Amino acid sequence: RTVYVNGDYLPEDEAKVSIFDRGFLMADGVYEVTSVLDGKLIDFPGHLARLERSLAELDMQKPAQFDDLLEIHRELVTRNGIEEGMIYLQVTRGSAGDRDFVFPDPETTPSTLVLFTQNKPGLADSPVARAGMKVISIDDIRWGRRDIKTVQLLYPSMGKMMARKAGADDAWMVEDGFVTEGTSNNAYIVKGGKIITRQLSNDILHGITRAAVLRFAREAQMEVEERSFTIDEARDADEAFITSASAFVMPVIEIDGAKVGAGVPGKVAPRLREIYLEESR
Ligand code: PDD
Repeated sequence: RTVYVNGDYLPEDEAKVSIFDRGFLMADGVYEVTSVLDGKLIDFPGHLARLERSLAELDMQKPAQFDDLLEIHRELVTRNGIEEGMIYLQVTRGSAGDRDFVFPDPETTPSTLVLFTQNKPGLADSPVARAGMKVISIDDIRWGRRDIKTVQLLYPSMGKMMARKAGADDAWMVEDGFVTEGTSNNAYIVKGGKIITRQLSNDILHGITRAAVLRFAREAQMEVEERSFTIDEARDADEAFITSASAFVMPVIEIDGAKVGAGVPGKVAPRLREIYLEESR
């Protein structure tokens, strides 16, 4: 696999970053995941805009190659022959050659830019999308700026492990009684034909797939309500689902061991998945 590091395309085993990189020592970095279908990038402008915002919110310098990011993505897709898969991009505050809580001077410490591809044949035609997924609920104990896509993914990873241990696929996180989001996706329920998902704030990531799916839903005359909901309300809903760049739209058929609706994918989530894949590829 060819990867990209700070201006160079290299075989993955020749790519290197410093052990003092603040991404490594302090999780001082942000990332984006963009899907590739039919060799084409999905929702790229949205991911780029969110990356720019994440960097600005953390006073992090744009990497020198920022304006070339589209070209770098395309080059990696071509070089690695990706038809279906993902591109991971990470920017960290770089390395000042030591460990220090104080941010280094951006003039002398450039940010680190890393990209790599993940080949995922069958990403669009997913068996999980046909069968639906099971989720458990866990406390949301993450920090208060979840709108910034940082690489601090320890708790989401722990959440996935808790889910796996419970025989489920993922976890929905709950704060003050209300669902915030999934460990790596936005959460939705459907009741009486209405699509309900948490309103945007610093409490959740502003999903790029969320924005597109809600736009397509409204264009298809589906009713959308952006508000918080509880796990009880979700268990009582007709349908539940998640969205993300890597999962697109996935039905959720079980929450904490209780069936949602009939316990099989309903009408709305599979329809939204179909529309999303049709419109964005
Ligand atoms: N995760 N919420 C969280 C906490 C996420 O990590 C993600 C994305 C989303 C969905 O955002 P988008 O639709 O822009 O992908 C919501 C990516 C896919 C990941 O970490 O792999």
